[in-house]
Amino acid sequence: MEDRFITSSKNWTDAEIENSLRPTALSQYVGQEKVKESLKVYIQAAKSRKDALDHVLLYGPPGLGKTTLSHIIANELGSQFKVTSGPAIEHAADLAAILTNLGKNDVLFIDEIHRLNKSVEEILYPAMEDFALDFIVGKGPSAKNMRLKIQPFTLIGATTKAGMLTGPLRDRFGVICRLELYEPAELQEIIKRSAGILNIDIDPQASLDIAKRSRGTPRIANRLLKRVRDYAEVMGSGKITKEITDQALAKMEIDELGLDFIDRKILDSIIHKFGGGPVGLETLSATICEDAGTIEDVYEPYLLQLGFIARTPRGRVALENAYKHLGLPYPEIK
Ligand SMILES: Nc1ncnc2c1ncn2[C@@H]1O[C@H](COP(=O)(O)OP(=O)(O)OP(=O)(O)O)[C@@H](O)[C@H]1O
Ligand SMILES: [Mg+2]
Repeated sequence: MEDRFITSSKNWTDAEIENSLRPTALSQYVGQEKVKESLKVYIQAAKSRKDALDHVLLYGPPGLGKTTLSHIIANELGSQFKVTSGPAIEHAADLAAILTNLGKNDVLFIDEIHRLNKSVEEILYPAMEDFALDFIVGKGPSAKNMRLKIQPFTLIGATTKAGMLTGPLRDRFGVICRLELYEPAELQEIIKRSAGILNIDIDPQASLDIAKRSRGTPRIANRLLKRVRDYAEVMGSGKITKEITDQALAKMEIDELGLDFIDRKILDSIIHKFGGGPVGLETLSATICEDAGTIEDVYEPYLLQLGFIARTPRGRVALENAYKHLGLPYPEIK
């Protein structure tokens, strides 16, 4: 895949810097007000009862702050935080070992929880429900069910694909939080905060311009901030002004809505090759040579939010806003 500035999936250069920019308390976590409100209440209640917090499922597109929020939840609870991920747990015994090693009210974070395999997932059911592990010991008629108690804990699952979670797993989460794309004003606040941490001098107008081009995604906002900073250091005095921002983003071929060449390729293809749609995801994916899952998770959420495309049972269609943005006439009768 080409190296894109505005992809919301994580790349290796993000890792180091993301850690320094990660808010560590709920009060520093910008936006997602509804989610924060309810978590605050549940965290407070769990703490005063000295119980484990209910299991929490966080879902939403990449880069919106699921991992960040799960750290924060553990911090706010004052609990130990253990991290693993769906693809990292290959065998049921691996998960059983993790679970038996948890301390009272610890937080276990499972990233990409939709990628747990079936036999591993089944270990989780009694663990989540009764804080117990079920085993079968022996073979044949003398086989016995054994139950091993484990410490009460909180499971935080994160996924970009809530639809791929099995029913039984989903039902065992007491708190289900859907993270939404951020508003420009919220992203501006995130950019200002990051600029402060990274010692970057930035004009308010420039921070808003970057925010508007960040596709509702904090990870992209932080990444653009860093790229524009590099540009400002080489081409200007180091201060990020509106002019520098415009120039830098134009160089990166990111337009005023944050769309780049792949978004335009998607829209272009729906409009010109498929007469505005509907076109199935697989066909679209083959036409523009992008992975279908990536189109669905990374590009489409923002195009949907802009009202540029719609998902219909028969496939994707381009909407009037997309034609307008590309400067094309909208065909009234299709
Ligand atoms: N609400 C927020 N306030 C401030 N910064 C945030 C917020 N949400 C995310 N960020 C920033 O965005 C970066 C990416 O967030 P994070 O890694 O938590 O996303 P994610 O949802 O876990 O993504 P993925 O699905 O790829 O795992 C973080 O390093 C953090 O700096
Ligand atoms: Mg994450």
